[in-house]
Amino acid sequence: MTGTVILIGPMGSGKSTIGRLLAARLRIPYVDSDQLIVAQTGVDIPTIFEIEGEPGFREREAKVIADLAVHNQDMVLATGGGAILDPHNRAHLRQMGQVIYLDVSVEEQLKRIRHDRNRPLLQTSDQESRLRSLAQQRSSLYQQTAHWRVSGDGLRSDQVLRRILRYLHAQTG
Ligand code: S3P
Repeated sequence: MTGTVILIGPMGSGKSTIGRLLAARLRIPYVDSDQLIVAQTGVDIPTIFEIEGEPGFREREAKVIADLAVHNQDMVLATGGGAILDPHNRAHLRQMGQVIYLDVSVEEQLKRIRHDRNRPLLQTSDQESRLRSLAQQRSSLYQQTAHWRVSGDGLRSDQVLRRILRYLHAQTG
């Protein structure tokens, strides 16, 4: 039994794709905190940012994570890239299970999500600088929240998945 696995990391690191694959392999539910927020509000993330600003979105994100921590059942939880900004979120995530940091370079992020319209923080003329400054603010928070880090640069999802499964098996013996 693996227990809950939490994926953290920046936008475009593959949390949702790998989260789904991992949940299927472990035969436990896949949960995505962004999807829960969208389901609860009935609008997409850009609309929440537009109406309530980033602070409104962060409040909703913290509430979803606190609720998941209370009703913690085995699952693979994919979090939004900024979930680790809040110290309460960081504590909840670590207490819920194995926290895995999917790390990717800014170059890789740009390749994967340059044309994305669903990420408000990327709607800027200089995406590279935005991603670099987010990485600068957040890398150490990802690092301190995670039990383990895996780099996804140059790897396909199934290769990252295999590494994660190997790590989890080593933890549970
Ligand atoms: C954000 C990342 C997004 C989403 C929101 C804010 C961030 O999730 O939560 O747009 O602050 O990095 P993904 O990491 O799944 O793109």
